[in-house]
Amino acid sequence: MAKYNLKINGKVRPVEVDPATPVLWVLRDHLNLVGTKYGCGIAQCGACTVHLNGNAVRSCQLPVSAVGSQAITTIEGLSEKGDHPVQKAWLEHDVAQCGYCQAGQIMSAVSLLKSMAAANRSDPSDEDIQAFMSGNICRCGTYTRVRAAIKDAAQ
Ligand code: FES
Repeated sequence: MAKYNLKINGKVRPVEVDPATPVLWVLRDHLNLVGTKYGCGIAQCGACTVHLNGNAVRSCQLPVSAVGSQAITTIEGLSEKGDHPVQKAWLEHDVAQCGYCQAGQIMSAVSLLKSMAAANRSDPSDEDIQAFMSGNICRCGTYTRVRAAIKDAAQ
């Protein structure tokens, strides 16, 4: 066991866990931040996506010992009232079906738009979205609505 002071959603959260524990389980089992979901556990589905210093990462394959002073943002920390532009676009387009993968989809979409903004672009193409979001799997097949919501949120 080791002690960590993790920066999560703007707060310092102390935890004592095995250094190899994936961040996903620290969030869910130790800090009750259960918006981040377990899907595959092998970095293939994207359900567990969170931000590490603003970049989308798979928390199921990120050992807590690798985080250090980097800031973690989960779906709970994306906005105060669920009103981030991407969350608003998600609601407007009624994207979610069963909803299980959606936190991961939204965290990846926010990361995509951040990278577009860094390149002075606000017009993600279908190809841009496909390339960036292909690691986020949705068994309900909400991809068409995901694309539409991302394009709206980019405006
Ligand atoms: Fe992490 Fe599937 S649970 S990518």
